[in-house]
Amino acid sequence: MTSVYMPPSVRRFEPLHMVFSTWVDHLPFGYDIVAALRPKLLVELGTHKGLSYFTFCQSMKENEIDGLCYAVDTFEGDAHTDKYDESVFSAVNTHNRQHYHGFSYLMRMLFEEALQHFSDDSIDLLHIDGFHTYEAVSQDFANWYPKVKPGGIILFHDVAARVQDFGAWKFWDETCAQHETFTFGHGFGLGVLRKPGGNRSADHPLLKLLFEGSREDDGAALRAFYVHASKHLENTRKLKRLTQQKAEG
Ligand SMILES: C[S@@+](CC[C@H](N)C(=O)[O-])C[C@H]1O[C@@H](n2cnc3c(N)ncnc32)[C@H](O)[C@@H]1O
Repeated sequence: MTSVYMPPSVRRFEPLHMVFSTWVDHLPFGYDIVAALRPKLLVELGTHKGLSYFTFCQSMKENEIDGLCYAVDTFEGDAHTDKYDESVFSAVNTHNRQHYHGFSYLMRMLFEEALQHFSDDSIDLLHIDGFHTYEAVSQDFANWYPKVKPGGIILFHDVAARVQDFGAWKFWDETCAQHETFTFGHGFGLGVLRKPGGNRSADHPLLKLLFEGSREDDGAALRAFYVHASKHLENTRKLKRLTQQKAEG
């Protein structure tokens, strides 16, 4: 009998923390990959206003996952985001305390400084979304890959962004040739990499769809699904806003 996978983002996800970010196109997948992996340890490199990070945290909480989450960022900005002021950290910190107290921690420091706080082979889900030159992404990957558990997942944002001096796309092209990967090309692109090893016998259906597609069109169907899921989320938000505006006269 074929089982049907109904992603939790479709059933119940309404983002609690909406801020402007090009990560907006990947919110349903971000929510679902956390629910699928049930990480004991999740680390994000590059948080800014928290759109991706708080999507992960929301999924941890709503799917009752017992794990720890760490957001690493100087919260000062870089040459791509531009330098930003203290209000950014303050808003992220407030939201974090209000909703994710006790399992989510902000590490206000350089990625390189945070490295020493994590053991090798310990991170279940790592999201790399810092500075986006080819050199910076390659360095973040080289530094942090040893920290990821065998069988663990690394997400890379902006793998389809060919703007300014962004080079994540070039890094990703090279990486796909050497690793087990899946690529979402919509929005600015999201790369999913799986580290070899780990026990895969009880893999969640989403992981099977990502890495063990049984039919040739499995990948295309999954990509199309998440394009629609993010459009649906956006339309739901717009409708809610319009209904509110109408009610307020
Ligand atoms: C593209 S933004 C992150 C976007 C975020 N993930 C979202 O959902 O919108 C990149 C962030 O990485 C931070 N950053 C870049 N390089 C860094 C480094 N070496 N150490 C610490 N933070 C860094 C910047 O301060 C910036 O806030």
